Amino acid sequence: MDNNTDKVFSKDLFSNFSSSISFDKRIYKEDIELSIAYSKALNKINILSSEEQKKIQEGLISINKEIESGKFEWRDDLEDIHMNIESRLHDLVGLIAGKIHTGKSRNDQVATSLRMYLKSRVDYIQSLIRNLEIEIVRKADLNFGTIMPSYTHLQRAQPVLLSHHLMAYFEMLERDVSRFSECKTRMDELILGSGAVAGSFYNIDRDFLAKELCFSRINKNSIDGVSDRDFILDLANCITTSMMHLTRLSEELILWSSEEFNFINLPDNVVTTSSMMPQKRNPDYPELIRGKFGRTVGNLVSILTMLKALPLSYNRDMQEDKEPIFDSLDTYTSSIEVMIEIIKGADFNDKAMLDSTSGNILATDLADILVMKGIPFRESHITISKLTKKLQKDGKSISDLSESELSKILGEEIEIDNNKSINSRNIVAGTSEDRVKEEIKVAKRILNI
Ligand code: ARG
Repeated sequence: MDNNTDKVFSKDLFSNFSSSISFDKRIYKEDIELSIAYSKALNKINILSSEEQKKIQEGLISINKEIESGKFEWRDDLEDIHMNIESRLHDLVGLIAGKIHTGKSRNDQVATSLRMYLKSRVDYIQSLIRNLEIEIVRKADLNFGTIMPSYTHLQRAQPVLLSHHLMAYFEMLERDVSRFSECKTRMDELILGSGAVAGSFYNIDRDFLAKELCFSRINKNSIDGVSDRDFILDLANCITTSMMHLTRLSEELILWSSEEFNFINLPDNVVTTSSMMPQKRNPDYPELIRGKFGRTVGNLVSILTMLKALPLSYNRDMQEDKEPIFDSLDTYTSSIEVMIEIIKGADFNDKAMLDSTSGNILATDLADILVMKGIPFRESHITISKLTKKLQKDGKSISDLSESELSKILGEEIEIDNNKSINSRNIVAGTSEDRVKEEIKVAKRILNI
């Protein structure tokens, strides 16, 4: 028997499938603000009398209160946030509620409310990034003078200041701040007035609406206005990039807190113990940040794929923009909030870091010293490479030799140690104490600390 033939599709199946209320209710505040501004614009062209406008505004304000106090009765049978609010407005003010939709469509409404909501989230994100930067700069300042190996290919490379390494993250985060700013600038465009697609029949004062709703400009093409979701894609990308930065930091924290490195002690509240192995301090929180990155990539790909090849203008596919961007927002903001706490409580182990600079970490410096004595770099490189290989055979490395022993072997006066190595890199972007001090000073000025 073919089971499908007698399957009765319930009304619920369709309404559940098409409903967005469970997730778009989070833009209620912006949607209400938008409707209040719109009622004022309708009053300006006499579609609403002043008295009607006032009633509608009061109705919308009380809906806002109902939602905020948890008293609002969400109706699953009404598709989305816009319909839920309009229907409740009907209950509260009667037939005149029907006038609020004059010349407006959910197409220009959802595009505008979303932009409003996401703009405010970007402001919050930027404040979080700044807070993380503050913790990073504080650690760079507090631990100034601590020396550690820098790495390339995860192999010890050259000695650097820990502060220099930490400030690299400040630079990354600064790029994130500016990327989010650019994203917000692009998002900052009022779509309301575009109607369903062709532009509003009514001569709504769009400049007034833009002012009321804090948009710095209005869109120029109604078709593009209701079709465009680039601003969501941009934001998803900004989030993914910054989240990727957090995974790089997480990865280093995880490595550094291992017994093998022992560079850092993570605060108790971000490590967990093992139910079986009593000695364990597992870095679960940085691991979770690293793991959650996958969601943001998935969300970015979902949004991009949803938009691919969509004909203009609005298509219902676009309702699928919300869950991924909301998930990316939540994932990223909670990750950065956690990272702030991790950095705040982290303790660096100066001795372990310094001990890790023993070995051949000054090999490049030796080659550079020979260059300064007139030997071409290619040759000096070979000389030092041979020296390290020879030392290795005897189970030794450059750090086992004194300056006078080195001078004897190389036939030149050699003065070398970590501090000299670090301070000789006194070029802009270098790790010398002066340069790093300056970098921290500039950062503090930016952060107002
Ligand atoms: N819930 C819809 C969305 O998020 C709102 C716009 C609906 N417009 C329409 N013509 N059905 O995309």
